[in-house]
Amino acid sequence: MNKIMIVVGARPNFMKAAPLVAAIRRHNRNSLANPVSLCLVHTGQHYDEMMSGAFFDDLDLPAPDLHLAVGSGSHAVQTAEIMRRFEAVLLAQEPDIVVVVGDVNSTLACALVASKIPCDGGRSRPLIAHVEAGLRSFDRDMPEEVNRVLTDHLADLLFVTEESGMQNLLREGIPDSKIHFVGNTMIDSVLASLVKAEQSRILDQLGLRRIPYSLLTLHRPANVDQREMFLNILEGLQDLSNTCPILFPAHPRTGRRIQEFGLEPFFMVPAGTKDTCAAPGIHLLEPLGYLDFLCLMKHAALVITDSGGIQEETTSLGVPCVTVRKNTERPVTVSRGTNVIAGTEEDTIRKAIAKQLLTNQPATLPEKWDGRAGERIIAKLLAMPGRAEEEDLVAPLSNATST
Ligand code: UD1
Repeated sequence: MNKIMIVVGARPNFMKAAPLVAAIRRHNRNSLANPVSLCLVHTGQHYDEMMSGAFFDDLDLPAPDLHLAVGSGSHAVQTAEIMRRFEAVLLAQEPDIVVVVGDVNSTLACALVASKIPCDGGRSRPLIAHVEAGLRSFDRDMPEEVNRVLTDHLADLLFVTEESGMQNLLREGIPDSKIHFVGNTMIDSVLASLVKAEQSRILDQLGLRRIPYSLLTLHRPANVDQREMFLNILEGLQDLSNTCPILFPAHPRTGRRIQEFGLEPFFMVPAGTKDTCAAPGIHLLEPLGYLDFLCLMKHAALVITDSGGIQEETTSLGVPCVTVRKNTERPVTVSRGTNVIAGTEEDTIRKAIAKQLLTNQPATLPEKWDGRAGERIIAKLLAMPGRAEEEDLVAPLSNATST
């Protein structure tokens, strides 16, 4: 295994990929005679400084070797554009292995390209590794669920974060030999960054030192793209916002929806860093970098979110979390961790918040969420033979006989 290509594209990819890069760097330092070449590709699915660039600095990621600058578009346009540009990259770079992470459009687009890259002159396609394989919400209305299922069925190596992931993959007919339970690279990043996050000045900047506060994120199209639904969620937060400050660093799409739907009266908008966010109410902020957000998350009394990764991060930090969704693809955060699935009704959100504010049940850390997942993955990749052998090239689509 000489050349590993790692693909990132959107905000939640960066913290999942950083531990892989760190493990490759460690390998190269420790084994000078047998270095691995790393090619980091950024598709450009996310492009704003606070959705992308800031994360490279905070996570000590090197600048991407290649940037595809695809930008935004409908799912079809964005996925197709990533595929078109990534094909040229793969043909030119010829990596032994392509690593895709998470469940965003970039994940599926690049796995699909790698699975069909033309073989010429006896050359076979690269192996495909999927980091964070096997998670299932069983809700095909979520674009991420489609991305997860398809990526898993294209991958040769499936790196799983929790027990449910292994069961899901086996149930779908993926051979046991392809599945590797390694832990969670997103949690590797949390654990590796806590000391730096504690040095963040964000609590002082927002006037929150020693003030109990909650932290909110909402960006799922199902939650924020329709006025009624968004309003409903805001009403479910009202009891909490009457009594405590809620910090709301809003995703760009959410910020735009607030204006479009005339929902500004629900929010307080600090005019600059000197403004205090200590008063009760929902304080609307620009997106934050990784370390500032981690600091806010660690010290929050409660986190309310519709994100997947934040359910895991709060579990690892022992911070109560209310997930404003009907399901989760990360059930271990509920069975072992600090997460409660609230649904999206005003009443169920209000009750889940009340319950979580009273809870003081200690959570247990899920198995292998110990900061070493990246190391395990890279060790496995380095032990693999080169490009995919003939028999590796057929990934079963399901238990059903193909037509
Ligand atoms: C994507 C992922 C989602 C992930 C989320 C984290 C898919 C299908 N979805 O959703 O799983 O939880 O990232 O943020 O891949 N925009 C900007 N600046 C940016 C990026 C996006 O303003 O840097 C705006 C654009 O108007 C864009 C919209 O946000 O149209 C949505 O971006 P997109 O990448 O399509 O999906 P996300 O909602 O961010």
